[in-house]
Amino acid sequence: MLTDDPILVTGGAGFIGANFLNLSVPRFPGRKFINADKLTYAANLASLRGIEKAPGYSLERVDIAVPEQVEALFARTKPGLVVHFAAESHVDRSIVAPGEFVSSNVVGTFNLLEAFRKHCATKPGALFHHVSTDEVYGSLGDTGLFTEETPYDPSSPYSASKAASDHLVRAYSRTYKLPVKITNCSNNYGPLQFPEKLIPLMISNALERKPLPVYGKGLNIRDWLYVEDHCEAIWAVIERGELGGTYNIGGNNEQKNVDVVHRICEIVAELTNAPKQELLGLITYVTDRPGHDMRYAIDPTKVIRECGWKPKQTFESGLRRTVQWYLDNSAWVQGVRSGEYLKWIEQNYGSRG
Ligand code: NAD
Ligand code: DAU
Repeated sequence: MLTDDPILVTGGAGFIGANFLNLSVPRFPGRKFINADKLTYAANLASLRGIEKAPGYSLERVDIAVPEQVEALFARTKPGLVVHFAAESHVDRSIVAPGEFVSSNVVGTFNLLEAFRKHCATKPGALFHHVSTDEVYGSLGDTGLFTEETPYDPSSPYSASKAASDHLVRAYSRTYKLPVKITNCSNNYGPLQFPEKLIPLMISNALERKPLPVYGKGLNIRDWLYVEDHCEAIWAVIERGELGGTYNIGGNNEQKNVDVVHRICEIVAELTNAPKQELLGLITYVTDRPGHDMRYAIDPTKVIRECGWKPKQTFESGLRRTVQWYLDNSAWVQGVRSGEYLKWIEQNYGSRG
């Protein structure tokens, strides 16, 4: 049963949160959606232009790491459903500056659970849906898949902070009987993704004829899922998943990084009438990420069986849509690639090689 109370979406100005709100606000006309976001470098209000004036939608600038801000928000809005996306999400940043990951991802999740316990947990149909990652499971070898029973073994400060937040959510469920669900998803790609992540970085750099930096030998494998398929999976779990349950989300799309970059070059060349060889020539092998997980791959059997979800996009169809979106939205990309982002890139990526 979906609650009639307000729906609180944390991190709704980021990549997946904005896609989730853009899909959900028109789907539930008249419902109250509150987007609670700190508006860090990764947030972009231009991503929410389509819904910002929708009746029922509102934005609150809240830092979930500050307990007073979270408490005031929950006391005032008393949400029935919390969909928790807010986090520092970029692995490379977590290696350079892990503190922010502990405060936003661990302390932030703790503050939300405390406020939810106090103000919302006893409402009929209340639910805290925690959005997490497959990176909590660590790295796979050549074979095997992550299931919901795979032991946690995080490698980076980012994945350790997400693992800690998952443990807090489960502990609150067991100890205080909080109504929670957790989804652990594989790598997302699609419109509105900040161009520090592999796919939008490579598309943007290819369009600007900048080097395409591939870590190590480019042989690491990620399991890619189109962002709208992830958002639909979250709704499927909210509506049909078992209370207290964990669901792994993925679309059986394992790809080597170097193959992803090659395919991006080919699609960009085709859609812009550019010479493919010139784009492929931009590929530059750079120093590997420390602690770089070799392979991620999700077994999505449980979410398919119990929640009736299945992805709509193949990797090929999703990648084409994504390249086309970045071509059609160069103003969005330019806005993002200025200011803070460029400074950070210069400081942290400038001398890589
Ligand atoms: P993102 O970095 O694009 O966006 C994160 C959003 O959270 C931003 O709008 C930011 O302003 C906000 N935020 C950060 N710290 C905050 C704080 N202290 N208080 C309030 N808001 C804060 O991230 P994303 O890629 O959209 O990821 C969203 C969630 O999904 C994260 O929890 C991430 O761990 C998880 N996830 C991401 C992927 C992926 O491939 N991107 C895959 C699986 C799971
Ligand atoms: O698996 C889910 C996770 O996927 C999410 O939890 C994270 O929030 C999200 O950032 C993502 O983490 P990854 O580290 O896998 O994504 P990223 O896009 O940073 O890197 C993807 C792969 O590409 C990885 O093997 C590292 C490599 N890479 C990345 C960048 C930025 C490169 O080779 N060159 C690059 O410049």
